[in-house]
Amino acid sequence: MTDYKTITFEQKGRVALVTLNRPDALNALNAEVMREVVDCFAAIDRNKDIAVSVLTGAGRAFAAGADIKEMQPQSFSDMYVEDYFAGWDRFAASRKPVIAAVNGFALGGGCELAMMCDLIIASDKAKFGQPEIKLGVTPGMGGSIRLTKAVGKAKAMDLVLTGRMIDADEADKMGLVSRVVPHDTLLETALGVANEIAGFSIPSLMAAKEMVARALELPITEGVKFERRLFQGLFGTADQKEGMSAFSEKRAPVFRDA
Ligand code: CAA
Repeated sequence: MTDYKTITFEQKGRVALVTLNRPDALNALNAEVMREVVDCFAAIDRNKDIAVSVLTGAGRAFAAGADIKEMQPQSFSDMYVEDYFAGWDRFAASRKPVIAAVNGFALGGGCELAMMCDLIIASDKAKFGQPEIKLGVTPGMGGSIRLTKAVGKAKAMDLVLTGRMIDADEADKMGLVSRVVPHDTLLETALGVANEIAGFSIPSLMAAKEMVARALELPITEGVKFERRLFQGLFGTADQKEGMSAFSEKRAPVFRDA
C-alpha cells in the first residue's frame, strides 16, 4: 500500500495522509496518478483502522489539472474506448470521508478532484479554476455537474466559459470551499479536522457521507427516506448505544466502530 511512484501515503493513527507527488509537473493527473490514487483509496476503505483521509499536493499545486501532455495526442476512440478518467469515478465513490487540503493550484481536473472530496480546506494562497476552454475542451472529470451543484449556474458558467482563475477568498464566497486558512497552517488544520472526525464511529461517518452525497442526486422526498433508513440502521450498532448512554451518563463515548 505504500509502494507508490506518484503519490505518498502515510497513516497517522486513524487518519491517512495522501499526497499527490509530481511537483515538477504541478501534480498533473496522468493515468498513473489516477491508478495509484484509486488503488490507495480502495485500500483505505478496506483498512478498518483508518476513519478519514486528507488529500493534498506536494509543492506549489494541489493539482494543475489532467496531464495535458499525456492527453494531447489522443484520439476520440482512444479516449472513448479506454473511458479515460473513469477511474476517478471510483475515487469519488470512496466510502470514508476525504478532506481535500488545497495548498495551491486546483485547476481543471485538480479542481474537479477537490470537488470529489467531502470537505475542501483551502490555503489562502489556493487558486481554483476550470481552464479547459482555453485548451479547446471542457471539464471532463465531473466539473460541469459538481461545480454547478456547488456554486449554482451563474458562477459555474462564469468559471467554465471564461476559464478564469479565482483565489481562495472568491472560492469561499461562492461556497466552493468549506474553510480558508493561512497557508502555513493548512496541513495542521486539515489533519486537526481529520482527527476530530476520526474520533467518531466509522459506521456513522460512512452513513453521514453517503446520505449527504446522495442528497445531491435525489429529490427531497427520496433523500429524506434514504436518510431515515440509514439513521434507523445505525440503531443496530453498539456505537449508537454507547454514544447515547455516554451522553446521559455525562462522559465521553468510547466508540468501537461496531
Ligand atoms: N499537464 C501537464 N503538465 C503541466 C500541467 C498540466 N495540466 N500544468 C502544469 N504542467 C507542467 C508545465 O508544463 C511545466 O512543465 P515543464 O517545467 O516541463 O515545462 C511545469 O508543470 C510547471 O508549470 P509552469 O511552468 O506552467 O508554471 P507556471 O507557474 O508558469 O504556471 C499554471 C502555472 C498557471 C498552473 C500553468 O502551469 C497552467 O496553466 N497549467 C495548466 C492548467 C490547465 O489548463 N489545467 C487543465 C488541464 S485539462 C483538464 O484538467 C481536463 C479535465 O477536465 C480533467
